[in-house]
Amino acid sequence: MKPLLKQRSCDAELKGPEQKTTAVIVPETGSENPLRTPTLEVENVHKVYDAIASHWNHTRYKAWPKVEAFIRGLPRGSLVADLGCGNGKNLPHVKEAGCFPVASDISGPLAEIAAKEHGVCCMVSDCLCAPLRNGSFDAVLSIAVLHHLSTEPRRVQALREAARLLRPGGQLLVYCWSYEQDDQRSRSRHRFQAQDVLVPWSFRTPGVKKAAGGTSKGGRDETLLKDSAGGDEDGGSWEEKPPVCQRYCHVYREGELQELLEQLPELEVLESYFDTGNWCAVARKRDVRQLTSPDSSAFRQPE
Ligand SMILES: C[S@@+](CC[C@H](N)C(=O)[O-])C[C@H]1O[C@@H](n2cnc3c(N)ncnc32)[C@H](O)[C@@H]1O
Repeated sequence: MKPLLKQRSCDAELKGPEQKTTAVIVPETGSENPLRTPTLEVENVHKVYDAIASHWNHTRYKAWPKVEAFIRGLPRGSLVADLGCGNGKNLPHVKEAGCFPVASDISGPLAEIAAKEHGVCCMVSDCLCAPLRNGSFDAVLSIAVLHHLSTEPRRVQALREAARLLRPGGQLLVYCWSYEQDDQRSRSRHRFQAQDVLVPWSFRTPGVKKAAGGTSKGGRDETLLKDSAGGDEDGGSWEEKPPVCQRYCHVYREGELQELLEQLPELEVLESYFDTGNWCAVARKRDVRQLTSPDSSAFRQPE
């Protein structure tokens, strides 16, 4: 495959202060069942999003332009599943396009924010196992969710689940964070130490100092909060280094998303590209009747 992106050298300059990530070794799950959520995801994805939901909501309010363009291109009246919708920043575009969103997220606090702020139906559910009917959606969005799944079988299961929801001809848009970050084309401040990393989430708003010893807002789970390096206790005036949560991410190398999608014969990849620091793909659900290979039984859908 022709590389889409010239990989940044480790010494290349970053835009803004670097956000340090920590390499993490993904523990063996001890389970063959991809639906069993590993502790790493429970502790460093699910609980973290619950804890940061309110702050996240204040920092994420604009859909990425190419995501918006995909949504705008859907026929009016389309039923659109947004799996891992976060605070629902993509949902207004679905409504503006004359389409009907069905949103879901594993984080209760984020699902609540999405529902309240956008007046939509939003469920708490796992994108690997969605309580939605086979073949009932015209489009599925999976935006910046796949990079929180810690094993390959889980990533494939999430894509299989998205495909299951699509009607034949329906389209899936997937975005996942890329290992390769290109200063010219994305405004990333990250330089990943490895593909499996912990990415700090700081509660500080840039340029704003926060009183030390202040109580946490929004029901934050304090057990998740760790002092960032050298967390200072300076007599209780101002906190220079706020507590941070560590979010687990598996960042994707060029071609990796494509390879996962190739494991799903029910999907045909229409387009792959790099956008805003993510590897992205648009795939279409094939009509299963067109598939004649013996493998087609691999994705027979339950009645
Ligand atoms: C980086 S945010 C992206 C949110 C949203 N898609 C957007 O474009 O802003 C990742 C989201 O994935 C959700 N998430 C992580 N693992 C999930 C899972 N197994 N099932 C559903 N949602 C999940 C998180 O709770 C979080 O809201």
